[in-house]
Amino acid sequence: MKTLLLNNTPEDIKTAAEILKNGGLVGIPTETVYGLAADALSGAAVAKIFAAKGRPMDNPLIVHISDFSDIKRFNLVREIPASAKILADKFWPGALTIIMKKSDNIPDEVSAGLDTVAIRFPSHSVAQKIIKQSKTVLAAPSANLSGSPSPTTAAHVLSDMNGRIDAVLDGGASDVGVESTVITLAGDVPRVLRPGGITVEQLREVLGEVEVDNAVLNKLEDGAKAASPGMKYKHYAPSARVILLKCSDDEYINYVNKNCADGVAALCCDEDIPLLKAKTFTLGGRGDYITQAHRLFDELRKIDLDGNVKTVYSRLPSVHGVGLAVYNRLIRAAGFEVIDLEKV
Ligand code: TXA
Ligand code: MG
Repeated sequence: MKTLLLNNTPEDIKTAAEILKNGGLVGIPTETVYGLAADALSGAAVAKIFAAKGRPMDNPLIVHISDFSDIKRFNLVREIPASAKILADKFWPGALTIIMKKSDNIPDEVSAGLDTVAIRFPSHSVAQKIIKQSKTVLAAPSANLSGSPSPTTAAHVLSDMNGRIDAVLDGGASDVGVESTVITLAGDVPRVLRPGGITVEQLREVLGEVEVDNAVLNKLEDGAKAASPGMKYKHYAPSARVILLKCSDDEYINYVNKNCADGVAALCCDEDIPLLKAKTFTLGGRGDYITQAHRLFDELRKIDLDGNVKTVYSRLPSVHGVGLAVYNRLIRAAGFEVIDLEKV
């Protein structure tokens, strides 16, 4: 299959919508990361997403809408909880995915056998136009091969998906850089299953009590059931081995310099660069988690493109604000390999 490269023009947006209407796959820009979209109401179209990504069939997809009223219009859920309306008023369109009890209209391929469906209204104007013009709602996981870092540019999408999908539309680099926050309203207390662009602190401000799923920070025990199936896999990983250090800034510099050798690199902050002997890939300023989130996946991909990096040391981020999303992605990229220098 030849993958068309489309641009942000009215004609190309129309072409993308036509492909989707006809059951094809298109890589689309969103403000979080690029998505790999298909008609969410067609099981056959959605099945192609799993094949193109090599995604395990038990990992459900997010349904993307272009207006709150799409939830009713396309009959996506059994009922809209009051808390969903509150969240939508505050954070939609934007980097928040809300899980509710699904209706029978949702194909099994989308919900992967669960009785819930995840819904997001993206703020990216191109994403909104494509959804509207396709006259349906779109299932879209991140447009990477399963397990690789999520794509934040059309070039990232092509590097994973060229020849595997019908088209990708280049709408510029994604602003947020990490995926949406996923919150479920299907239980008694709202619970964050994946941290992202909207912080837990922001959610608590509008909802009051919000739980954070154990799998956000910790590795699931073998055999344990994941509330969000995507959280159980090693994920976001470059081919190089990522090792996280739990330590102070000074200890990080000392440790990396002591272990510096051919093939060793640092995924670090701007302030560390003049202090480190190893090759550096920087995420941004220390404590600037918004920039770190924005750059994270691009830097992970650059580490692989370098060709010579075998091991990369980074430090464990803070769990506050958007730091929690950076922590959650980095610890999975590291396959949970953390060296606790405070305990050594
Ligand atoms: O920002 C985003 O959310 C991007 C853009 C393209 O919108 N999409 C994205 O999709 O990150 P994906 O498939 O890569 O991640 C979706 C996550 C997975 O961890 C999946 O297991 C979880 O959401 N998920 C989806 N539906 C769910 C459901 N019904 N119950 C629990 N978890 C669900
Ligand atoms: Mg993904």
